[in-house]
Amino acid sequence: MSATDKRQADLMALAKDVLIQNYRQQPMVMERGRGCELWDVAGNRYLDLTGGISVCCLGHSHPALTAALSEQAGRLLHTSNLYFIEQQVLAAKAITDRCFATKVFFCNSGAEANEGALKLARRYQHVIAERPDRNLFVSTVGSFHGRSMGTVSVTGQDKYRTGFGPLVGPVEFVDFGDLEAAQAILSKQTACAFIVEPIQAEGGIVVPEPGYLAGLRKLCDDTDTLLIFDEVQTGVGRTGRWFGHQHDDVAPDVMTLAKALGGGVPIGAVAANEKAAAGLQFIAGSAVPHASTFGGNPFACAAANAVFNTIDDEGLLDNCGAVGEYLGAKLDALATKYPSVCTGARGRGLLRGLVTKDGAAPIVTACRERGVLLSVAGGVVVRFAPALVVERSHIDEAIEVLDAVLAEASS
Ligand SMILES: Cc1ncc(COP(=O)(O)O)c(C=O)c1O
Repeated sequence: MSATDKRQADLMALAKDVLIQNYRQQPMVMERGRGCELWDVAGNRYLDLTGGISVCCLGHSHPALTAALSEQAGRLLHTSNLYFIEQQVLAAKAITDRCFATKVFFCNSGAEANEGALKLARRYQHVIAERPDRNLFVSTVGSFHGRSMGTVSVTGQDKYRTGFGPLVGPVEFVDFGDLEAAQAILSKQTACAFIVEPIQAEGGIVVPEPGYLAGLRKLCDDTDTLLIFDEVQTGVGRTGRWFGHQHDDVAPDVMTLAKALGGGVPIGAVAANEKAAAGLQFIAGSAVPHASTFGGNPFACAAANAVFNTIDDEGLLDNCGAVGEYLGAKLDALATKYPSVCTGARGRGLLRGLVTKDGAAPIVTACRERGVLLSVAGGVVVRFAPALVVERSHIDEAIEVLDAVLAEASS
């Protein structure tokens, strides 16, 4: 065994001793990355089309992000929200300039952003709108909103909820895409908020029919229910627009962000219109309604600002749209070529999935063994969520490998 192989093996053995065994990591320790490529400590090179699960939107070690972070780290890392923070104000402006929202609250992750949105909704209904009977959260079957007690409670997949009860409630789940079911629940006038992903990502890259989000908007307007779009995975360019809902002519009251917002630095955000933002607004004489020690700190917000600027400077929304279409066409062709293994392909921009019949995990493993990193979504979907800087040549390399893997699986 070479010295680098031994180092990798030793680290994985140590991980078993010292880490809580909640994850099921693949057998490598990543050491460095550049663009869409990663290298493990043993020196093996991988083509990364997972992008840290929709996080590394600029690719690995992008010079603009590296420079912004080095500069910020050498100037000011953290002060707390006892004071105004220049980078936080600018990051909020970057978000509000690009969407319906007029106000932003920063936190550190997707779960925290959704937790903040749920708290915002409850306090909006109870305190601002003075409707204390509006407690119900409505969510969709197959959704994923996070792992905190509040967000796992509105996650529409039993496997994530089992073992953690009693959960936060009341919560009702309706089928994703089913406006009649949504109407039946919302018309009871007990709902506080409806939370939904513009594309169900972890649930298997499920894209709703055109008009679904607009239909929800109307139902929420008619029943005084706040509409929350969870854009933790679809936001910040992933679908070829700044935010996933911008493919439809619709705006929510609240949008949550995380993942790509920091390009790899942990940061989350709750972005709201003026009406909904009142739900988290400080009222003299009462406690600060919501807060986060690290939320919106200078370092994380410097990352967000670099992400927004670089996506603009390098035309990455256009690249996402164009290379995403190219990938989609290649996946359609593979699904047609291997009907005994695949049932189709779906997605938008650079959030794409190849739907398998019997489970995606063996396909993902076989691709990784051939040097291409992909991930599983919803059990049966092979998920592609590469950096927005990905090129057609990367897609060609991955498709060649996937083609060989599917050929083997279908033989
Ligand atoms: C749509 C969506 N919401 C929320 C989350 C939770 O984000 P985090 O893992 O940063 O807490 C995820 C993570 O996959 C997600 O895809």
